[in-house]
Amino acid sequence: MVEVRFEGVTKRYDDGTEAVIDLDLTVNDGEFLVLVGPSGCGKSTSLRMLAGLEDVTEGKILIDGNVVNDLPPGARDVGMVFQSYALYPHMTVSDNLSFGLRMQKGEARLSDSEIAIRVTEAAELLGLSEHLAKKPKELSGGQRQRCWIAMVLAQQTDLILLDEPTTFLDLKVQVELLALLSRLAHDHGRTLLLVLHDLNLAAAYADHLVMMRDGQIVISGTPSDVFTAANLKRVFDLDAHILRDPASGSPVCVPFTSATLQAAL
Ligand SMILES: Nc1ncnc2c1ncn2[C@@H]1O[C@H](COP(=O)(O)OP(=O)(O)OP(=O)(O)O)[C@@H](O)[C@H]1O
Ligand SMILES: [Mg+2]
Repeated sequence: MVEVRFEGVTKRYDDGTEAVIDLDLTVNDGEFLVLVGPSGCGKSTSLRMLAGLEDVTEGKILIDGNVVNDLPPGARDVGMVFQSYALYPHMTVSDNLSFGLRMQKGEARLSDSEIAIRVTEAAELLGLSEHLAKKPKELSGGQRQRCWIAMVLAQQTDLILLDEPTTFLDLKVQVELLALLSRLAHDHGRTLLLVLHDLNLAAAYADHLVMMRDGQIVISGTPSDVFTAANLKRVFDLDAHILRDPASGSPVCVPFTSATLQAAL
């Protein structure tokens, strides 16, 4: 059970870049929140500050009401898959999956048999059972990506951050993964923050959709409220028609090239 709050959070990198500006955002317990926005708008920076991998320049980040600005990543109980994660090349998939669990100290430390169960379960969920004995270089890009996600799921943290977890996956696997993550939120009370590039998948699976641009939230709410032609134009400079998925009713965008652009081509 985890609730996250960003209160007036600004990130200014050493070179002066303001990656995130005065961000106010609440992620409710058990919510599946998806961040979208053009490249460079501050999505990864926001997740990395929450995970403790970047300092907060101004403002506060709270997890369950406690300010975590000065807590090291290991003390935050956050599972995160980064945009460009690397596996340990000399270890098998199985050892990569269990690595984080084997590093835990003190009371948090699980027995070898508990670790083995968690690894087996996570590998099954992500379709990696046949690949456990392989080294990362023997995996495809999509299998490696599933491995990163399995590593995070094996940790069983209540807060999970995934930065573009679907980039290298087939559409069918993307959909299966998002359905799995949504079950983790809705049936198991985990709180999830994802960055996704695919706007239609974001709208189909998010409970809470946040559109960012230039380090700021432009609009935040349910996909039906946020996913409008006007907002897609405003945030992405994208011309698109909005249709409804006949089964779920969730909004779907169909981009088109504007008449002016077509005339110029
Ligand atoms: N270590 C850094 N030092 C300086 N500037 C940085 C650093 N990391 C990121 N930035 C800048 O901060 C801004 C936000 O970057 P961020 O990685 O958060 O964007 P993003 O929304 O995740 O983009 P993408 O969709 O391309 O992954 C960009 O202008 C980027 O160049
Ligand atoms: Mg990013």
